[in-house]
Order: sequence, then structure tokens, then C-alpha cells
Amino acid sequence: MYVCLCHGVSDKAIRKAAHAGCHSLAQLRAELKVASQCGKCARQAKAVLSEALPPPSAAPKQTLIITQIAV
Ligand code: FES
Repeated sequence: MYVCLCHGVSDKAIRKAAHAGCHSLAQLRAELKVASQCGKCARQAKAVLSEALPPPSAAPKQTLIITQIAV
């Protein structure tokens, strides 16, 4: 299904971009030009992007390790 008619961008292309590292509408706009002309596709593009991204709890957790404490 086409999400952005101005630039011919499909939901499949948005999912592919999400899996390649696009995590925001701004990144999608830079990569695929989504929502860069009339902007009517912005809401749908965000929805497709949200569905394609892993849930926040699935994101890798970072651990801070302190190796020295100055006294
Ligand atoms: S439909 Fe996407 S910019 Fe117009």
C-alpha cells in the first residue's frame, strides 16, 4: 500500500527503512522523502514506523560499570 503518494513510498519501504535504522519521521523524511511535500502522509508514515520498530523493552540495555573511584 502506498503511504506517500507524492513520492511513491510504500509501507513496505518504510518497514525496510525502519529495520535499516530509521527510527523517526525526520530520518524517514531524509531517507525516503516521506512527508516532505504536502505532508498528508506524515500520520500514516509514523504509524507504520511505530509498528515496524521493536518495543522499547526489546531495546538493548546499557550498563554503566565504574571501575575506579577516586578518594
Ligand atoms: S503524500 Fe507524502 S508528502 Fe504528500
